[in-house]
Amino acid sequence: MSRMTIILGIESTCDETAAALIKKNVDFVEILSHVISSQQKEHEEYGGVVPELAARSHLNNIDIVVKKVFVDGGIQPKDIDAIAASANPGLIGGLIVGNLFAKTLSLALNKKFIAVDHLEAHILMPLMNNSKISYPFLALLISGGNTKIILVRDFENYQILSETLDDSLGETFDKVALMLGLNYPGGPLIERNAQNGDSEKYKMPMPLCIGVEKHNPNFSFSGLKTHVKLLIEKNKPLNQNIICDICASFQKTITQILIHKLQNALKKCDMQIRNIVISGGVSANLYIKNSLINHFHNMELLFPERELCTDNGVMIAWNGLLKYEKGFFETLDSKISPYSNLGSI
Ligand SMILES: Nc1ncnc2c1ncn2[C@@H]1O[C@H](COP(=O)(O)OP(=O)(O)OP(=O)(O)O)[C@@H](O)[C@H]1O
Ligand SMILES: [Mg+2]
Repeated sequence: MSRMTIILGIESTCDETAAALIKKNVDFVEILSHVISSQQKEHEEYGGVVPELAARSHLNNIDIVVKKVFVDGGIQPKDIDAIAASANPGLIGGLIVGNLFAKTLSLALNKKFIAVDHLEAHILMPLMNNSKISYPFLALLISGGNTKIILVRDFENYQILSETLDDSLGETFDKVALMLGLNYPGGPLIERNAQNGDSEKYKMPMPLCIGVEKHNPNFSFSGLKTHVKLLIEKNKPLNQNIICDICASFQKTITQILIHKLQNALKKCDMQIRNIVISGGVSANLYIKNSLINHFHNMELLFPERELCTDNGVMIAWNGLLKYEKGFFETLDSKISPYSNLGSI
């Protein structure tokens, strides 16, 4: 293998059409270019992602995004070493578009094709150019579709310790935001409003964290969501102060739940853990990030850079590079799937 490797990563699992080019030179990985075409405006009026609209939008945008990534990166398609694309889990329409595009390019350019698990890509993103971390580590994945705590024993050796029994954390943020009359995606808007609110104003439930359920490894957010709904009904008409106080109290409760579940998971690990990797869209939340860093100050916590928390092509290219180095390639008849390779609890 040459000392320099260039990987194209393509992401199309949900509502972002994204691509990136990364270059590894000796042991440093450089992001040459990365482009994200977000469909958020198209889905905003529905309060969530409409799969059929998403698939059409990926189809309209993918060649524009990939062309731009080559222009911005100053790289000719013939100069890349491999093409990686998210193959699972995700909305099938988007996966078909991204995979067909990546495979066609791989055939035309005679380059290796690498299938990437989108969740694995979120989890491994903070490892890029970070020599502080080594296996095993604990991963907290808090995204739009998933909420999991995973013991990462080694590369591609995962044990799921916790998962959500109902909504994911990102979905919970989005639904609470919708109830408060905030736009989609609601996570960043809840964070912004919370900055001006009193986090002690409303006491909220912490499902599966107290009493007989204290040691339950899993998450559940539906009771908390219902609590917020009833709180909103009780306080109508809402004013800005009430909205900010609800956001702050909700965000604080979520943080306490995450701390409780991470503490439980650490006790359960049969290996010594020094690092916790926190990734997925909700990990962009600075209040959550700083609270977790303060609480687990004896450990090394790693987060992706803020713009690489939500879906992007860099994480796919980086996971592709790790697989490239191990020779984990796929044939062009490989399947896409709505399920993750990480498995279940
Ligand atoms: N600052 C923030 N605070 C809280 N939540 C946030 C913040 N920024 C983004 N989010 C949430 O992150 C979610 C999107 O994350 P991401 O792009 O990782 O999810 P996804 O790709 O839809 O899901 P998955 O990766 O599980 O398939 C949204 O629900 C959004 O509200
Ligand atoms: Mg994602």
